[in-house]
This record gives sequence, C-alpha cells and structure tokens, in this order.
Amino acid sequence: MTVYFNGSYQPKDAVRVSPDDRGFLLGDGVYEVARTYGGRLFAIDRHLERLRYSLGELRITGVAVDTLGQVFEELLRINGLMAGDALVYFQVTRGAARRAHGFPEPPVAPTTYGYAAPLALKFDHTKGVAAITVPDRRWARCDIKTISLVANCLANQEAQEAGAFEAILVRDGVALEGSHTNLFAVLGGEVWTAPLSNYILPGITRAILIGICRAAGMPVHERPIQVEEIRRADEVFLAGTTTEALGVVRLDGRPVGTGVPGPVTLRLRQLFLKETARR
Ligand code: PDD
Repeated sequence: MTVYFNGSYQPKDAVRVSPDDRGFLLGDGVYEVARTYGGRLFAIDRHLERLRYSLGELRITGVAVDTLGQVFEELLRINGLMAGDALVYFQVTRGAARRAHGFPEPPVAPTTYGYAAPLALKFDHTKGVAAITVPDRRWARCDIKTISLVANCLANQEAQEAGAFEAILVRDGVALEGSHTNLFAVLGGEVWTAPLSNYILPGITRAILIGICRAAGMPVHERPIQVEEIRRADEVFLAGTTTEALGVVRLDGRPVGTGVPGPVTLRLRQLFLKETARR
C-alpha cells in the first residue's frame, strides 16, 4: 500500500512517525474519513470543510486543506482504487516536539498522514444491526473530529462484546449518537435526529439525509431524542460515511419496531444512494 505522509507518497512500511509525535503521546490531532462510490469521492467538499473546522478549533495551522482533494485522488489512483468503493482516511497531528501539555514553542510542522483502502463492510443493510445503549463518557467537544477516540473505542468494544454493532451514547437521558455514527429515529411517522451541539459530531451523512427528507417532503426534526423514545420508536437507524442509513433492529436485546429495517430507513437509503450517483 502506498500512503501519503508529510507531503510525499511512500510505501506504508517506509513511514516513520516520531515517538515525540503529539498524536502518539497526547492524542492531539484530528481526522476525516471519506469514501468513494464507483471510484468517485463523495461529498468531499463537506469533508474538507469539516477538517478545516476541526483544525481551527484545535488551532492547528500549516495544512493546505484546499490541496487535499488532489491528494485523495492520487492515493486512489496509485493504489488502483479508481473503480469500486473505497475509503479514504486522513489525519493531522500538531507535530513532533518534546512532551509538554502546552503547544510547542517555537511551533513545529503538523504531521499529516493519509491512506486509501478498499471498503470492507461488516453489515447487511437489508438485515440491519443490533445496538446497545451506554453512558456517554466522552469530553464536551464531540463536534471536533479528534483522533482522541478512547471513549468511543470503549463504548464500541462494549457493543461488540454484547454481540452488537454500535453503542448508542446517552447523556442525561438523551440518546445523542453512536460511537462512530449519528442517530435517527422514526417517531409517529416523522424523522428525528439530535440537534447539532458540542455533544455530537456534525455528520455529513446526517446533513445529507436531512436534506433528502426535506426534498422528499418527509417531516424531519432536529430535536433531542430521549432514550425511552428510541425504545418505542417505529424505526431507529444509524448514519455515517460507511454505514449510510443502517437500520437498528435490536436495541439492548429487544426488537425495534417490527424487528427488521423499516420502510423509512430503507427508502432513505435508496434516496441516499441516488444522491451518491449524482455527485
Ligand atoms: N465516523 N458520529 C461520530 C462520533 C463519528 O465518528 C462519525 C463518523 C459520525 C458520522 O459522520 P459522517 O457521516 O460524516 O461519516 C458520527 C467515521 C466514519 C469513523 O470514525 O470511522
């Protein structure tokens, strides 16, 4: 595999990251995950805009975000991923400097790393997945796509050990999002999802699905969803770059709705796929 590291393309095995890198020592960095459909990057401008936001919030400078679309294209080309579906990962850390909590002084160049790989999905949209609810133990800036994901990893591992795909994170009785997906519910025939705040990631799939609902005349609300509401929802689904709209058919061991992906979830996924073909 050929990857991108600090401005050049190199074999993955040739990459040398400093042990002083603040991503390694402190989790001080941000990332993005985008994907292709039939070899074409999807919603890439939105991903780059969110990367700009994450970098800005962490005050990491020195990354030419405008040029990254070309880097992603090049990674796809070099790795023979111009056909089919692939994932592109990109991360930036504050760089390598003697360990200290404050920013390096004088400033150092950020470390940039990107790769492209064939998409390998662990679920079937027609069958849906199981989820569990867990307390949200993350920090209070979940709107930043930071590589500091230990709370997400612990929650997701708990889900896997319970035989589930996703952990739905609950804070003060409100179901916010999954460990790596946004959360939607269908209540009384209408689509609900958590409002944007510092407690969720502003998901790109989430935003596109809201737009699709509006364009199709399906009522959609950005309102807090109580955990009891997802338990008695007609449908619950997850939204994310790799998951698209994916039905949750079991929650904490009990069936959701009729126990199969619901009609709204399936329709939204079909409309979403049409959208991916248009861009
Ligand atoms: N996860 N919420 C969280 C906490 C996420 O990590 C993600 C994405 C999403 C969905 O966002 P989007 O639709 O922009 O992919 C919501 C990525 C895919 C990951 O960490 O692998």
